[in-house]
Amino acid sequence: MSYVNPLRQEEDRRLPRIAGPCGMVLFGVTGDLSRKKVMPAIYDLANRGLLPPGFSLIGFARRDWANQDFAQIVHDSVKEYARTEFREEVWRQLAEGFRFVSGDFDDDAAFDTLRRTIEELDQVRGTGGNHAFYLAIPPGFFGVVAQQLKEHGLAESEDAWRRVVVEKPFGHDLESARELNGTLDAVFKPGSIFRIDHYLGKETVQNILATRFANTMFEPLWNANYVDHVQITMAEDVGIGGRAGYYDGIGAARDVIQNHLLQLMSLVAMEEPTSFDAEALRVEKQKLLSSISLPKRLDLATARGQYAAGWAGGVHVPGFREEEGIPQRSRTETYAAIKLEIETRRWAGVPFYLRTGKRLGRRVTEVAVVFKRAAHQPFSATSVEDLTQNALVIRVQPDEGMTLRFGSKVPGTQMEIRDVNMDFAYGGSFTEASPEAYERLILDVLLGDPPLFPRHEEVELSWKILDPILDRWEAKGTPEQYAPGTWGPESADAMLARDGRVWRRP
Ligand code: BG6
Repeated sequence: MSYVNPLRQEEDRRLPRIAGPCGMVLFGVTGDLSRKKVMPAIYDLANRGLLPPGFSLIGFARRDWANQDFAQIVHDSVKEYARTEFREEVWRQLAEGFRFVSGDFDDDAAFDTLRRTIEELDQVRGTGGNHAFYLAIPPGFFGVVAQQLKEHGLAESEDAWRRVVVEKPFGHDLESARELNGTLDAVFKPGSIFRIDHYLGKETVQNILATRFANTMFEPLWNANYVDHVQITMAEDVGIGGRAGYYDGIGAARDVIQNHLLQLMSLVAMEEPTSFDAEALRVEKQKLLSSISLPKRLDLATARGQYAAGWAGGVHVPGFREEEGIPQRSRTETYAAIKLEIETRRWAGVPFYLRTGKRLGRRVTEVAVVFKRAAHQPFSATSVEDLTQNALVIRVQPDEGMTLRFGSKVPGTQMEIRDVNMDFAYGGSFTEASPEAYERLILDVLLGDPPLFPRHEEVELSWKILDPILDRWEAKGTPEQYAPGTWGPESADAMLARDGRVWRRP
């Protein structure tokens, strides 16, 4: 038994949350996700002193590499993408725990080697048998890897923990998501499957809960009596880059609405949870997702588009259908907008508009809660002609913060009322920089702390919402083209205009 300080309180904020003895096995070491997010996050955690001293990382891939080759890959990725400064002593200690296992996913001998490597690390690095398996690989391989881990006695351990980390896409519709969940459930113990939705790891997303539930002034207005509608936007200025293989046939709705945007919507709209533990949060998110309904006329309440070739940011960029690896007649959407309603007393009649797209005007993710106009205006029509609707805008990224928009009198002898903004910026209020979402999420996996990971019920409910829209799109025509650097196809503007509204220009 290790010594436990009787005065130590779990919830004391002054105590850093440091992972206990453990290691991680990374499948898919050469992919973008590993290089750009996972490896740098591991280094950043080590650099912040949040990993145990003997932390070990095993890379598993088909390459014919030695340990040093793998270390070099991690080194390059850390140098290029880590958030915190590079410190030689941190690196050296971390790199001592690097191992590489070469093999195919169906190669029994390789999984035997993996098992021996884990045992060796438990001996020499003191990882205590605790290991997380990070599947940064296409979901088509989840099944075989899970099965191999089971067959080689790696998926469970008597006196230590084993966890599996998976990334989206969690299926491509409800049925395939259920299948995938079944595959993982058959191998790993309940509570040991961690599904990453990296938006939940973002500080600004967690702050939605703080804003709503730690304050008095927002919640009384947070309902259909005051809110006119909500717009959730996730816009990117980049195209699909080198991800044709992943993106074609997936598209904007499956790529980000099914996960990031529906999770954002859940946090914005759900009821107050009884606590912030995983179960209490899941209950509320699940209730909310179950009460989402689709408009009857999906053709009028959704829009989709595909970016065309053109000029963006001063350079000529190819259209989606000219991107390498994309078929010329591809019908995959790179822009999607949908209108959702929530059938609860709190939200009845308040539309939630979700939109996302690549090659749009700029990179920005925000949630705008737009309030109703005052029921009566005691001012003359000309006094308030420049006054729009009050709004609370949660700026998820970049330029993290919040803006409150309301009307104010313009100084002068006339009563003229115009919109003004009150602004909270993270940079101006806090000295500490926000960690990357992956730092938080990987640490939570190693600590076994599940509140920020969507449960399979949430994943399945999200597909239930999206499936009818995707079916409808599949059956009808091709996405409309939109020029790069704009805010999407005309049909998206028309969709809001039908409701007498306009999209915000973020
Ligand atoms: C990923 C999507 O989940 O999120 C990508 O698959 C997208 O298509 C990315 O580019 C954006 O993440 P972030 O954190 O930059 O908003």
